[in-house]
Amino acid sequence: MNPVKLELSAIIKQDVEAVDQYLSNNVYISKSDGEEQKVTDAEFYALTAGGKRIRPVLCIEFYKLFGGKGDVTEIASCLELMHTFSLIHDDMPEMDNDDMRRGKPSVHRAYGTDTALLAGDGLAILPFEIISDKALSGKITPEVAIKLINCLSKAAGNQGMIMGQRLDLVSEGKEVDLDFLKRMSSLKTGCILSASAQFGAILAGADDENIWHAAEYAENIGLAFQIIDDILDITGSEIELGKPVGSDEKRSKDTYATILGVSRAYEEAKRYTEAAVSAISDIPGSELLCELAYDLLDRRH
Ligand code: IPE
Ligand code: IPE
Ligand code: MG
Ligand code: MG
Ligand code: MG
Repeated sequence: MNPVKLELSAIIKQDVEAVDQYLSNNVYISKSDGEEQKVTDAEFYALTAGGKRIRPVLCIEFYKLFGGKGDVTEIASCLELMHTFSLIHDDMPEMDNDDMRRGKPSVHRAYGTDTALLAGDGLAILPFEIISDKALSGKITPEVAIKLINCLSKAAGNQGMIMGQRLDLVSEGKEVDLDFLKRMSSLKTGCILSASAQFGAILAGADDENIWHAAEYAENIGLAFQIIDDILDITGSEIELGKPVGSDEKRSKDTYATILGVSRAYEEAKRYTEAAVSAISDIPGSELLCELAYDLLDRRH
């Protein structure tokens, strides 16, 4: 293994462990066996089932890239809360109707659709509670908090991930073109990844130009990431992915992989990965994030 790759896997492992530990001990999501606590139990179940934690990793690594020195695990984990909300609802019968997620029964299969709905709602709101609490306790400035809240609400909201998921739903059973797929993927997947990179930059006090570079990197990663997700839905294994394969076909969804075929879709993902890398490669210290982009391109899960 080359030294950057070795260093990358050690650093990512460290970030992921910090996020996993934070999520397992999160005081906002106390675990219990009581019926009243069923929603937070379901949230805990979804959050601790695993997951690659790419979004918090992007936050932490962009924070470090732009000179941040403190521990931002808690705010970075807010991106995982929002992402996990999107997965819980994405799996529900009214959406993709998938029974497995992160190697376990999806939340609605384990807890019922009523609880899954509320657990998703809870995880979508919690980031704003955590970020505003951080500002009220003086851990971040009100200005930084407002920037984070604005960034995340735009990314997840009506003109962001929610819009992407809406486009995904209306595309079921229809023939769509590559322009549509690009718009849908960048909204449903790119927006929260972009917010993740921007979170790190904002927390580090980066200027607008560097925030733009972070966003540009992550938007391109987002497109590549969704294309690879679509490919893995055809070529992947349920054991490795921890979620069903063939979900897109089952719902009659056109994807990059069904329209272009697997190998041309991969080439498209590679082009976006290269665009991501060129958005940050002039920034000193960006080697790890560049390597991460290539790692995500060749992921198996
Ligand atoms: C899956 O996201 C949904 C998409 C946006 C394609 P991830 O592949 O990051 O899922 P986890 O968090 O690792 O489970
Ligand atoms: C989901 O895309 C994007 C989200 C916003 C959750 P997919 O529906 O392809 O994600 P998976 O394959 O279920 O993880
Ligand atoms: Mg979906
Ligand atoms: Mg899905
Ligand atoms: Mg998918």
